[in-house]
Parts: sequence; C-alpha cells; structure tokens
Amino acid sequence: MKYLHRPVMLEEVLSFFKPFSGMTFLDGTIGEGGHSEAIVEKIIPGGTLIGIDRDSSNLARASERLKSYASMVKLFQGSYGSMKDFLKSAGLKGFDGILLDLGFSTRHIFDAGRGFSFMKDEPVDMRYDSSAGVPAHRWLAEAPEDEIAGVIREFGEERDARRIAKRIKKSLEEESSPITGLRLAKIVSSAKRTKTSKNPATKTFQAIRIFINRELEELEKGLNAGLHLLVEGGRFGVITYHSTEDRIVKKKFREYERRCTCPTDFPVCICNESEKTPLVSVWKGSGSSPSSEEISSNPSARSARLRGCEIRKAFLE
Ligand SMILES: C[S@@+](CC[C@H](N)C(=O)[O-])C[C@H]1O[C@@H](n2cnc3c(N)ncnc32)[C@H](O)[C@@H]1O
Repeated sequence: MKYLHRPVMLEEVLSFFKPFSGMTFLDGTIGEGGHSEAIVEKIIPGGTLIGIDRDSSNLARASERLKSYASMVKLFQGSYGSMKDFLKSAGLKGFDGILLDLGFSTRHIFDAGRGFSFMKDEPVDMRYDSSAGVPAHRWLAEAPEDEIAGVIREFGEERDARRIAKRIKKSLEEESSPITGLRLAKIVSSAKRTKTSKNPATKTFQAIRIFINRELEELEKGLNAGLHLLVEGGRFGVITYHSTEDRIVKKKFREYERRCTCPTDFPVCICNESEKTPLVSVWKGSGSSPSSEEISSNPSARSARLRGCEIRKAFLE
C-alpha cells in the first residue's frame, strides 16, 4: 500500500468544513495528505490549499499524492505553530478553514529508524523533524530522574511516573547503549503497579513524544494564531487523541466564545467585549467521535475527537 495512514473521521471532517470552490484551506498537519486529498477535490476551481508538516518524508508523500492539484497546493516544512509566516509566504490574507489532526501518523510507527514504536528494537527517537531537536534516547540518558518523572506524570498522566523514571535511570546505569523502544517498553511494564487494557507503556511513550516535540506549546501557539487568521464564517477543526490536548482545545475555543456577551442567537456581535479579538461559536459542545464502524476498521481512530468552532466575528491580523 502506498499510503499507510488512514485519514481519521474523514466524513465528519468534510461535513464540518463543507469545502466549497474557491476556499482557502490550511491543513496544518498534512501527513500523507489523506484529508487534504478529499478537501482539495472540493475546492476547485479557484481554491488554495496550504499544507504544513514537520516531517519532510510525510510532506514528500503528500506532495506526490496531490501532484495533480500542484497549481493550487503549497506545502511547507515546519510547525503549524508558525502558520502565520506560511500564510504570508503564500501571499494570502486569511483562511476559510483550518484543520489540525494532531500527533503522529502510522508511518512513524511502521517506518524503520523513527523510534516511535514500543515494538521495535531501535533507539527511541520520536522527533517528527529528525533534523532538529534532541532524540528521546539522548534526553533519557542525560536528564535527571526528577525531570523524567515530571514529564511522564505531566504529559502522560501516569501514576507510576516516579517508579518508571527510577527504573529507566537504573537500566541506563547498567547498560548505557541508547535505549530502544522494546527495552523502554519492558522497563515501563516492570515498573507499573496497575494493569490497563492498553499496552502498559502507552502513557509513557505518549508523554516522552509530547515533551520531545513540544507538542502542547505548539498546539497553544497554533490555536492562538489560527483563530486570528480565519475569516468571518471560517471554521477551525482539531482532531485530538488524548485528554491533555483535548482539554487545551476545548478551553481555547470556549475562551474565545465567552468574549462576546451578546445573546447567542444574535446574527452579529454588537458588544464591546469583542473589539480586539475574534469571536467564535463552538460546534457541537463536546465535539464528535468516530463511528463504531470506523473504530472497528481502524483502531487507531478509537480515541479521536473532532472539536470545532466557527468564527462569528473575525479579527484578522
Ligand atoms: C495524524 S498525522 C496527520 C495525518 C493526515 N491528516 C493524513 O490524512 O494523512 C499528524 C501529522 O502531523 C505532523 N505534526 C505533528 N506535530 C506537528 C506540528 N507541530 N506542526 C506540523 N506538523 C506536525 C506529524 O509529522 C504527522 O505527519
């Protein structure tokens, strides 16, 4: 199979954005381009699709997949947190739609040398952009036990964080070669006191990945930037995969909804609260989850949640 990653909640994404001809769309985590391919077909003629990814190999696959639409697609390597710079480079003023489909892609788990998997006997790396930052095995070797425990607790909500960090450091004292995914998974499993239905290493791997890629900082930056780059009626959709990132998105959208004190059935905002910021209407309160059919055919979708909002009053920067 050429493209391994199956776009999650594709039907829901299309029905949320209702892509139209001439639309200017940002896919901030284009990956292998699955969502983008479905969107770009619907924004012809006159539409523009901007795609961003930190991972150059995913970006190359997206470029190949979208090559018949090359004249309307512009791709950038980098973080969606810097979307404002990419908007300017593309000579655009604002977006009608922004999608962020957070986290890693199937490629990161399957491809050799990426170090995301707890099944592989290769050093844990976990960087989306392999040319920047510090690979996870180096951080684990150099960081003090307290820092490792803090990261696992904070970003993985792992109750056994202290025990896991202790065992990681002990294992590295005994054998200093770069820690592999398989070895890390065994260490975590031996340190866990509680059993879960998921692999015992899931939370620890999630936490390390979030930390190594500064994922939550980029998410905050991307949400703040995107809300100021969407036109009136524009829509922002975010697919989250765990409660920590989901809380951030929920809180941010609500924060921008509450800035307006007008009754919600007012078609336009007339209060002064909204002078300096965009205002949004949150879509479907708690967002939307994948159907049971999708989860059974694509288990990677099981923890996905699509949250969205629509701009009631734009504040383009
Ligand atoms: C879940 S996948 C997206 C899959 C994509 N929607 C598709 O249909 O193929 C997430 C992608 O986001 C990328 N990524 C993660 N953090 C990023 C960031 N801060 N900025 C840009 N891309 C990021 C990853 O490299 C990965 O390719």
